Amino acid sequence: MSEKPNPRVRFNMKTGSVKIVGTVDIVDEEGKIIKTTDNVKFCGCKLSKDYPYCDGSHRAITGDPKPTIS
Ligand code: FES
Repeated sequence: MSEKPNPRVRFNMKTGSVKIVGTVDIVDEEGKIIKTTDNVKFCGCKLSKDYPYCDGSHRAITGDPKPTIS
């Protein structure tokens, strides 16, 4: 039986996005689980149409042709 590694958090200082690599519970302000997901990326630039999740709209400020975090 293998154990899952701890989730890791990746900050992108250029866009402000935060990617969590691994399985995490998304909870509301009372701690109730909204959903459990893998590899979620949160928006730090506030341009996302799917806020608080990153949708790649940060490319408008970075000028990058591709997302800076995969
Ligand atoms: S960081 Fe805002 S859309 Fe990606």
